[in-house]
Amino acid sequence: MAYETIIVEIAEGVALITLNRPDALNALNSQLLRELATAVEKADASDKVRCIVLTGSDKAFAAGADIKEMADKTFVEMYRENFFGAETDRFIKTRKPIIAAVSGYVLGGGCELAMMCDFIIASDTAKFGQPEINLGVMAGLGGTQRLTRFVGKSKSMEMHLTGRFMNAEEAERSGLVSRVVPVKKLKEEVMSAANKIAEKSLLATMAVKDAVNCAYETTMAEGINYERRLFQSLFATEDQTEGMASYIEKREPQFRDK
Ligand code: CAA
Repeated sequence: MAYETIIVEIAEGVALITLNRPDALNALNSQLLRELATAVEKADASDKVRCIVLTGSDKAFAAGADIKEMADKTFVEMYRENFFGAETDRFIKTRKPIIAAVSGYVLGGGCELAMMCDFIIASDTAKFGQPEINLGVMAGLGGTQRLTRFVGKSKSMEMHLTGRFMNAEEAERSGLVSRVVPVKKLKEEVMSAANKIAEKSLLATMAVKDAVNCAYETTMAEGINYERRLFQSLFATEDQTEGMASYIEKREPQFRDK
């Protein structure tokens, strides 16, 4: 499928998806979110992909949902279309790890999309915000829920109510991003993390994603029980035998995703 709003490149087990609407600072419109959902579904199903990286440009990861597309919509249209609901539901069902690599503006729906990924590595130029309040609306792609889990109620409430931006240093301090790197090194650092993940057993990486995400959906006791069962079930895999044997034999493991 030929995409018009994203670029997909696959190499060495990593699918690099680049948001590509430079004239609109990668604002998320229906076409982009549809293409993105299709691309991650294909990457999830592909034997060639073991980790996904989602990125934008140096100027903007994404400056939000496309205001020009939304401006004339009525409540009835938004509700009947379930605006962006289907596309984001497809995106978050991905079972392989997704890293967001962000620079520049990470605003509104752009910040919400980054938070739908499994972790965020930011460049030192990144600016995060939920400025929807300035448009007379509010976040609609999960921002009030996810940002609150990441940074706590007080900071989330302030960001959503005032629309102020947070820089990369504050985002790292608050737990929104896993780490900050110089903008010139972002791609190299993120691809190195993605390549490292791609070397692991896919069964184990998918189980880790499943278990960590469970921490958001359930109680501590249920989550720990779920983790324990997943951990135990990995002992049914050849990759567990290979991983532990390679450690004992002091050699690199050869995982086969079996
Ligand atoms: N939607 C549509 N177009 C956008 C856009 C958006 N969210 N953000 C930027 N653009 C467009 C601009 O309209 C402009 O296009 P034109 O050249 O045709 O006028 C182009 O991208 C470049 O933008 P600017 O000239 O504004 O660039 P700047 O460097 O001066 O400012 C900015 C950058 C501060 C990010 C500014 O563009 C801005 O405030 N953008 C809107 C941010 C925003 O409000 N995001 C929330 C959207 S609502 C949302 O996301 C809802 C949700 O949760 C689902």
